[in-house]
Amino acid sequence: MTPGPAVQAVVSAVRALGSYDVVSLTVPSAPGWDRARPGQLVVLPADPARGSVLPAVHWLAEVVSDPVHGTTVQLVVAMDAHQVGEEVRLLGPLGRGFPLPSRPVSALVVAHERSAAPVRWLVSLLRERGCAVHVLLSAGDPDRHLDPGGLRRQAASVVLTRPEDLPTELSARLDDPGTDPALVLAAGPRDLVRVVASLSAPRGRVVRVTALDPDTGPVCGTGVCGCCDVVVDDAAGARRVRPCLEGPVLPGEWLLSARSEARRAAR
Ligand code: FES
Repeated sequence: MTPGPAVQAVVSAVRALGSYDVVSLTVPSAPGWDRARPGQLVVLPADPARGSVLPAVHWLAEVVSDPVHGTTVQLVVAMDAHQVGEEVRLLGPLGRGFPLPSRPVSALVVAHERSAAPVRWLVSLLRERGCAVHVLLSAGDPDRHLDPGGLRRQAASVVLTRPEDLPTELSARLDDPGTDPALVLAAGPRDLVRVVASLSAPRGRVVRVTALDPDTGPVCGTGVCGCCDVVVDDAAGARRVRPCLEGPVLPGEWLLSARSEARRAAR
């Protein structure tokens, strides 16, 4: 889907959250924002006049609309990246977000560092559908866990781990009858979400993962650069997938293809 034109947004609030800032932006109301969901992206296009030569791609952390304040979009960004009153151009919401189950199930949400930006919103929507939600957060540095205190007030359980311990912790959650998730949703670097898929799919869990990570290399988020491409080779045949257009949330099984790895390495 080709993104529409960028809109002008105004930074209405900035608050610190651990190693990051949560930025609220007031945007012109549009039907797309009413349908926005966790797992979608927004892009702040490059603006050389202001010193940004690359687009900035962010996870949508939340969208709130009300008749008094209009539409407010929240993003999690690097500290001191934006100030209140600043005007920015913004494209979004982009892509396909996480699917939400139509009936109550047990769900496990796994996320790494800033990719956890949409997790609080996702947990809240899953809970509205009657789901029991468990959260597993990974971070290389404890300061980079995103809002574990806030999540503990929402989720049935929250476990913090390091990336190297994630497989062990994830296996424990998958095999724990007290968690027993039917649905596993993961956001983070491609290697990490592939691990999540490789442990969850063979156990019969439905797995949906983000197949693009703005924090592990420059990406455009709009289908132009090709940096997010992955070659999927499964029962449906080999095909090149561009996650920022076809995802960024994709079936976890799609990332398990060995041929996809080989082709990426050969590029
Ligand atoms: S991020 Fe540039 S094509 Fe997908």
